[in-house]
Amino acid sequence: MSKILVTGGLGYIGSHTVVELCSNGYEVVIVDDLSNSSLRVLDGIESITKSSIKFLELDLKNLELTESFIKSNNDIDGVIHFAASKAVGESVDDPLKYYNNNIISLLNLLTALKKLDKKINFIFSSSATVYGKPDILPITELESIKIAESPYGNTKQIGEEILFDLVKSSINFNVLSLRYFNPIGAHSSALIGELPIGTPQNLVPFITQTAIGKRDILTVFGNDYNTQDGTCLRDYIHVIDLANAHVVGLNFLNIKKESNYYDTFNIGTGKATSVLELIEGFVKFNGIKLNYQIGNRRSGDVEKCYAEVSKANNQLKWKSKLTIKEALISAWNWEKYISNEKL
Ligand code: NAD
Ligand code: WQD
Repeated sequence: MSKILVTGGLGYIGSHTVVELCSNGYEVVIVDDLSNSSLRVLDGIESITKSSIKFLELDLKNLELTESFIKSNNDIDGVIHFAASKAVGESVDDPLKYYNNNIISLLNLLTALKKLDKKINFIFSSSATVYGKPDILPITELESIKIAESPYGNTKQIGEEILFDLVKSSINFNVLSLRYFNPIGAHSSALIGELPIGTPQNLVPFITQTAIGKRDILTVFGNDYNTQDGTCLRDYIHVIDLANAHVVGLNFLNIKKESNYYDTFNIGTGKATSVLELIEGFVKFNGIKLNYQIGNRRSGDVEKCYAEVSKANNQLKWKSKLTIKEALISAWNWEKYISNEKL
């Protein structure tokens, strides 16, 4: 059985990926510093997988502890590195926090892994944010990478560059950088999902918190864009499909014969959905009302962002399967569950 280290495995995407890894026969060990998650998520994962998952509370910014952890887990074959800070607005206000956490954690992890002196398959959580304002839609992996729009986005660009250079210098690393589009939804059990701390920045948690009454009203950030209904277009992908892309990615790297492999893949659905379409879908699929208003544009928002996914479809043999309807129903079920549980 292949053993995989999942950093940030108690976070939103990490927790769903751990479940998918377990159901595909991988053994998992999680590290997380709980800076944006809770131990309650581990209970959720263990209830779904009906198994006990190895977990260590560890801050990857600490090189000594990271090296000692990796040394005592030298039987790992692969790493999925989710651990990072991810709030775009906060990164503008506090860039050093983002360079510190996202870059130092990655460097520490790679430094520790290099000392193992064995082949490691590594998947990096990158983001569509590396493309900024795209020149051509849908966005292919060949889109030029421009100056990042935020320190957060820059940490993803730098992370990709670090990995690219490392792969060129060492036969021990095979790396995929997966550029996620907009993950939404939750596990169908409603035992794990997205747990935003404070006011949600992302659309779907804001929708569900408004629908349940935690927020008074949702503001649509602008309806004067050059789109069919004037609101921005995004590529919303069910978090389970996204989680599955990591399993497919590891399987892909496992059977790769060559060393020094590095590549980037868009992970999205290829479909564009407007903010109003998403809101209307949420209301219709869940049979509930939603209080919303049209407001001003949010600074920094890109008008249209959706993926060309044929590279992942053809090379990884991965394709998204779940619908926006399934994602929006699962997000609502999760909101109802956490509101009852008061996590
Ligand atoms: P999340 O905040 O829910 O999960 C990240 C996890 O990493 C959290 O559990 C946090 O406690 C942990 N963590 C942070 N810093 C750490 C450190 N120094 N040491 C150990 N653990 C640490 O975020 P998510 O939405 O699951 O995102 C996972 C990854 O995907 C991140 O790298 C994020 O930048 C990237 N990403 C997310 C999105 C999105 O919309 N959610 C989109 C594109 C890319
Ligand atoms: C989606 C659409 C908003 C909230 C962000 C990061 C990106 C990536 C994913 C990590 C936009 C609109 C939102 C609200 C609204 N994260 N909206 N009212 O901006 O596409 O991407 O998360 O890598 O880096 O930038 O996602 O969910 O914030 O917004 O009208 O209250 O919903 O304007 O058009 P975004 P989002």
